[in-house]
Amino acid sequence: MDLPDVDGAHQWPDAADTSPEVTLRPLGLADADDFMAWASDDRVMRFLPRRPMCATREQAVQHIRDTVLPHPWFRAICVDAGGGDRPVGQVSVWPYADEGGHRANLGYALAHGVWGRGIASKAIKMVVARVFDEVAGLERLEAITDVDNVRSQRVLEKAGFKREGVLRRYIVLRNGEVTDAVIYSFLASDRP
Ligand SMILES: CC(C)(COP(=O)(O)OP(=O)(O)OC[C@H]1O[C@@H](n2cnc3c(N)ncnc32)[C@H](O)[C@@H]1OP(=O)(O)O)[C@@H](O)C(=O)NCCC(=O)NCCS
Repeated sequence: MDLPDVDGAHQWPDAADTSPEVTLRPLGLADADDFMAWASDDRVMRFLPRRPMCATREQAVQHIRDTVLPHPWFRAICVDAGGGDRPVGQVSVWPYADEGGHRANLGYALAHGVWGRGIASKAIKMVVARVFDEVAGLERLEAITDVDNVRSQRVLEKAGFKREGVLRRYIVLRNGEVTDAVIYSFLASDRP
């Protein structure tokens, strides 16, 4: 099946497929080219100010080797691209060490070429359905979004996260600007 070239060198699932099937799996070194599609894109990474941009394939390989592979819970968000699953984004759950592991931070990002098709919403629903069973002792998953990142806030609300409040002047953006953030949480007991 020929796929449209939506974002430079990257081919994404048919744009007519507005509700693609989503799967989660570990992300490996062989996924470096796909990983770059979002990790090198400022339209995506500006919302993840503490994550490094991977401008070259070498940097992507190094980041996967040094950060992704040893990560306690990191998954590629994949869609069926006509002949196998294809990573189009990432989702991670990072337990705060000083809290004895009962609380963890949720992070996620998708390649710009596939935004707006419900992929992140499906992925985050899958995460909350399984992560409390997979991470021992986890009771609370929290997500912190830029106050202007309404798309991300909508994803969290659709997955059942509760909006807890605004953290004033909380995030330092890549350009040095300090902005407010919104904090969300999902508890193990919030599962249906
Ligand atoms: C946040 C992100 C993962 C969302 O991915 P996505 O697959 O496009 O999200 P979905 O399609 O599942 O849902 C987006 C929702 O936001 C809504 N939305 C989109 N633009 C919006 C806007 N400007 N205002 C309000 N809602 C908006 C959509 O309508 C949709 O809600 P709906 O299904 O109820 O209509 C993606 O935009 C991304 O990677 N952003 C950069 C990284 C990032 O922000 N990560 C999160 C850090 S906390």
